[in-house]
Amino acid sequence: MEKIVINGGKKLQGEIFVHGAKNSVLPILAATLLIKGVSIIHNVPDLTDVDASVKILEYLGAKVKREGNTLIVDACEITENTIPEEMMREMRSSIIFLGSLLSRTKEAYICYPGGCDIGIRPIDLHLSSLRKLGAVITENGSCLCCKNANCHGAKIILTFPSVGATENIIIAAAVSKGKTTIINAAREPEISDLAAFLNSCGAKIFGAGEGTIEIEGVDGLYPCTHTIIPDRVVAATYMSAAALCADELIIKNIRSQHLSPVIPAFMEMGCKLYIDRNNLKVVSPKRLKRVRMIKTMPYPGFPTDCQSVIMAALTKASGTTVINESIFESRFKHISELNRFGADIAVNDRSAIINGVKNLYGANVYCTDLRGGASMVIAALAAEGKSTIGDIYHINRGYENIEDNFALIGADIKRISDEKAKENEKTEQQEA
Ligand code: UD1
Repeated sequence: MEKIVINGGKKLQGEIFVHGAKNSVLPILAATLLIKGVSIIHNVPDLTDVDASVKILEYLGAKVKREGNTLIVDACEITENTIPEEMMREMRSSIIFLGSLLSRTKEAYICYPGGCDIGIRPIDLHLSSLRKLGAVITENGSCLCCKNANCHGAKIILTFPSVGATENIIIAAAVSKGKTTIINAAREPEISDLAAFLNSCGAKIFGAGEGTIEIEGVDGLYPCTHTIIPDRVVAATYMSAAALCADELIIKNIRSQHLSPVIPAFMEMGCKLYIDRNNLKVVSPKRLKRVRMIKTMPYPGFPTDCQSVIMAALTKASGTTVINESIFESRFKHISELNRFGADIAVNDRSAIINGVKNLYGANVYCTDLRGGASMVIAALAAEGKSTIGDIYHINRGYENIEDNFALIGADIKRISDEKAKENEKTEQQEA
């Protein structure tokens, strides 16, 4: 298993480029199953979660080819309707294949999905919504059998605006008979991107990005070419790194309106933000200021996915910040690792209390989850001395070449093999 080694304290400067959004690519790849043709998807980052989706598509019979950042998905022939458990468990997004398989093959056999360990993460809203559309779903332990003899439109009221459930409904309803209305739908930009993709294929989805979405089922879809939106969580990760480790940094390929939920927090920290079309310049103060209160909420609230990375920046701010995590019940696992750098963060139920410290110091830490892992990279970039980050397979799920991107803007960061890391540890112990 590889590790990331960082000699911290270097000033970052220059330009950094944001890749395509993981959370857009995954449902869109699942949706390509609806199209008996060749879908061309541009701006697809090279991530292990994308590989996991491609593996599922290929298992089901699709032919997938990567040309640089473009994926070409030929779903003319789909021969399978069962997804093996080990593929389902690789990521949470595998559950989105339920809606697309139901639509395409009228029958699906899957297991409960995996994904980051940040809470219980039930799929009750996915299942109850698909049942409303007419799917017959039986549960046997962790296995699900889903049949869709007679799918039809329905009015679905979500008790919580779940991103994944909204996506599953959109995908299943796009080619169902009649009209579906989703009340209290998730409003995340990735939902709008999925709808944009499907609408380019001939679907009739109205209101994506708003709380009510209407879908008029169509008989079939045709292939299209689509470009994935930039990843707003990666952008916020770079903003956090810029706030903490740069005087000035230009973040390229952003959508400013997608960052509007996080921009006020960075301004309260004392950063100056200059937006020029798809570029964002972050100018940081000598010392960041605390943010009075951050509460994670569904979009357009502060994203739960950005909670850990901004927390890393706030470890060195003057004063105390409180971050309340309202979406996932155990999304604070990164905190004990951040404290190894010398951060002073306490947890009280679903609130983290971050007392800003003057300095962080190099540490050996392990990624706890995808975004938690990114927060450790940021802390290590700011820390004095050497840090080693293990279990970086979490980071590989959502950040393409994180070490190369930071190295290009002046970080002393590299990826090393586990053997090399062990050798280094032994030498260090002997020298100590
Ligand atoms: C998606 C994102 C993830 C992000 C999350 C919230 C992808 C691939 N992942 O995850 O990065 O952190 O949105 O913005 O897009 N819930 C239920 N029952 C359900 C479904 C969800 O109780 O059937 C709960 C969850 O446990 C959680 C909350 O709803 O507490 C939010 O989950 P949801 O919006 O569904 O997140 P995901 O789609 O899993």
